[in-house]
Amino acid sequence: MKIVVIGGTGRIGSKLVNKLREHGHEAIAAAPNTGVNTVTGEGLAEALKGASVVIDVSDSPSWDDAAVLKFYETSTRNLLAHEARAGVGHHVALSVVGTDRLSESGYFRGKIAQEKLIRESSIPYSIVRATQFFEFLKGLADLSMVGGKVHLPPVLFQPMAADDVASGVARVAVGAPANGILEIGGPEQFRLDDLVRRRLASLHDPREVIADPNAPYSGATISEKTLVPGSNARLGVTTFETWLTQPAAQRPAA
Ligand SMILES: NC(=O)c1ccc[n+]([C@@H]2O[C@H](COP(=O)([O-])OP(=O)(O)OC[C@H]3O[C@@H](n4cnc5c(N)ncnc54)[C@H](OP(=O)(O)O)[C@@H]3O)[C@@H](O)[C@H]2O)c1
Repeated sequence: MKIVVIGGTGRIGSKLVNKLREHGHEAIAAAPNTGVNTVTGEGLAEALKGASVVIDVSDSPSWDDAAVLKFYETSTRNLLAHEARAGVGHHVALSVVGTDRLSESGYFRGKIAQEKLIRESSIPYSIVRATQFFEFLKGLADLSMVGGKVHLPPVLFQPMAADDVASGVARVAVGAPANGILEIGGPEQFRLDDLVRRRLASLHDPREVIADPNAPYSGATISEKTLVPGSNARLGVTTFETWLTQPAAQRPAA
């Protein structure tokens, strides 16, 4: 199958392209630096020619509220219109567990808009909502600084390895469209503040993590189960301790 991966050069996209190729598919990594831009439309018609499936694992280059909304609205509209013209039979998009519960967050208003456009389009689809990636834990600390300390609510948290996210999305992409939402998550549950504290310790990052029940997540007030998937979620295999031993965990940006 020809499968176009929008955002195929990114954290999830590059793993996804490799996994699909290992399974004998013709996987195309589509991103601005491979000549495909979903915002401007550049290169889209050519990339989608003959494609059976399009997987969208792109992300907005800016996480400013207005920029994220504009990115997901413009790129999803462009993509779906080009897919209709090219006769694509399955649109797969990566979203986030709890997206519908996070509308107070500007980033998540962008993801809500993306999901809505997909649901309302004529293209058969599968929306895969994943929990946070282990690779995002340090970034989460960086986004949660108040007065030199990391403030996070001690809510339930079930993150997963980016590699398991890519495997989960690949499995969905080669199957029949769900025309609905599927959830994937990590194999273990933690408290959000506790896991970020452990991640910073593994990086010898001295920042203190405060369990603050009133601290927002990505600008939204959250409660005990906002970030965790339901009981039907397919779970990844990589535990946090195993992930810590892998090369991905040694990168300072992770
Ligand atoms: N962070 C988390 O914990 C988490 C959890 C669940 C789901 N997600 C979702 O996972 C998805 C992927 O995340 P990621 O961390 O893999 O993202 P990433 O590493 O930032 O990669 C983003 C990709 O999007 C591409 N892109 C940007 N603008 C584009 C455009 N105009 N046209 C085509 N491609 C464009 C980038 O290409 P260039 O590099 O060339 O700019 C890059 O390949 C996102 O949709 C996010 O919402 C994230």
